[in-house]
Amino acid sequence: MRTYIENLKNHVGEKVELRGWVYQSRSSGKVKFLELRDGTGTVSCVFFKGECTEEALNQFDTLTQETSLKLVGIVRKHPKHENVFEIGAESFEIIGKSENYPISPKDHGTDFLMENRHLWIRSKRQHAILRVRHEIINAVRDFFDGRGFTLTDAPIFTPSACEGTSNLFETKFFDEKMYLSQSGQLYMEATSRAFGKSYCFGPTFRAEKSKTRRHLIEFWMVEPEVAFNDMYDNMELAEQFIEYIVQRVLKNRPDEMKTLERDISKLQNIIAPFPKLHYKEAAQIILKENPNFIVGDDFGAPDETIISSQYDKPVFVHHYPSAIKAFYMKEDPKEPGYAMGCDLLATEGYGEIIGGGQREESIEKLVSKIHEHKLDMKDFEWYLDLRRYGGVPSSGFGLGLERAVTWICGLPHVRETAAFPRLYGRAYP
Ligand code: 4AD
Ligand code: MG
Repeated sequence: MRTYIENLKNHVGEKVELRGWVYQSRSSGKVKFLELRDGTGTVSCVFFKGECTEEALNQFDTLTQETSLKLVGIVRKHPKHENVFEIGAESFEIIGKSENYPISPKDHGTDFLMENRHLWIRSKRQHAILRVRHEIINAVRDFFDGRGFTLTDAPIFTPSACEGTSNLFETKFFDEKMYLSQSGQLYMEATSRAFGKSYCFGPTFRAEKSKTRRHLIEFWMVEPEVAFNDMYDNMELAEQFIEYIVQRVLKNRPDEMKTLERDISKLQNIIAPFPKLHYKEAAQIILKENPNFIVGDDFGAPDETIISSQYDKPVFVHHYPSAIKAFYMKEDPKEPGYAMGCDLLATEGYGEIIGGGQREESIEKLVSKIHEHKLDMKDFEWYLDLRRYGGVPSSGFGLGLERAVTWICGLPHVRETAAFPRLYGRAYP
C-alpha cells in the first residue's frame, strides 16, 4: 500500500510502498542503509541480504543523492528509539536519476546555497524552517478568525505611500505611476469601519538597499485593525497574538524545533502580558550601555538588543517621538511631540517584530502631516473620508512574518525563512 513517512506509525508490520528521494546512503559490510525522504519526513531503509531482492543489492550503488524512487518494504519499530520507525527494504524502482547533486553533506558557503535555493529547500533544516513558517501562517489565521476578524486583503498596486517615500518600489499601472504596497494598513482602516475588526495578510515590499540579517525586499505582513481600539488595547491584542503563535509552534512543531536545535525554554515563557516601556524609559536604558545614543533618534539594531536583553519576554516600546514615525500616527494630546505608536521587540536580540499604534483621527492634523511628509494630498482623499464619515479612534499593527519565523526558529538570518527570499542583491532563483 502506498503511504507517506509521517504515517508509518500506523503501518507497523505491514508491507508498504514509499515514494521519495535518496537523502543519504551507505554500506557497512552485509548491510546497506538508505535514508529516504518524501517531504513528510525521512526514514531509514535497511537492506539485508536475504530480506531484499538480489537486484536491489546489486543496484544499490546507483542510488546517488536525490535519486527519486519507489521503494517497497516492511515497517518496523526502531530497535533502540521510541517512536522511530524503519523500513526493512525489499525492492525499489528508480524513477529519476540524480547525477552530481550540487549540495553534498559537506559545508557550503551561503552564497552557493542561496544560488541553489531551489534545491537547498530539500535539506532537513530548511524543510523544518518552512514547516514552522506554515504553522505560523495557520496560527495567524486561526487567531484572528477565532476572534471575529474578517480577512480583507489589501491591494499590492497602490497610488499612495504608507511608510514614507524613501523605500517605495515604483512601478507602472498602464500609464499611471504606481507603487508596490509597503503596508495594507490604510486599507485596513477602511475595512475596519465596515467590519469592526479586519486584517490583511499578504506580501509587502520595501526597496531597502541594505544587507542586514533582518531585511527582506519582499516580505509577508499580517495587519489587524480594530475600530474603537486605543494604543493600550492594541498592545493587549498584540501580546495575546504573539503568545498564541509561539505556543502553537511549540505544541505542533516539536520535531522541527528539535531539528533546528532551538532552545525552547526561551520560548516557553512567552506568555502575555509583556513589559511596556515609554520611549523615554527605553532611551535611558540604552544610554547606560551606549552613551552615543541621541535621545529623539530611532533605535538601531544594537540599541534594540540593549533593551530586549533586560527581559525574558518581548517588550513593547511606545510613545516614540512623532518626528521619527509615519504621518498617520496619533500624537498624544497629553504629550505633544510623542506618537501613540507601539513597537514590539522580540527576545534574544531579534529586534522589532511588530510595528503599530493608534491612528490620527483629526483631519486637520492629518492634512498638515501629509504636507509635512511631502505626500500628495489627492492620493489621500479617500483616507480622509474615513475621518469625515463616522471617524473613530482606531489601532492596529503589522507583524513581519519572516521576522517572526527567524525569532521563533532562532535563526541567524531572515533569508532562510522564505522559500525564495528577495534580498538586496538577490532575486534568483
Ligand atoms: O514597522 P512597520 O514599517 O509598520 C507598518 O508597516 C505599519 N503600517 C503596520 C500597521 O500598523 N498595520 O512594519 C511592520 C513590521 C515590522 O515590525 C517588521 O516585523 C516587518 O513589518 N518589516 C520587515 N520585515 C522584513 N524585512 C523588512 N524590510 C521589513 N520592514 C518591516
Ligand atoms: Mg517599524
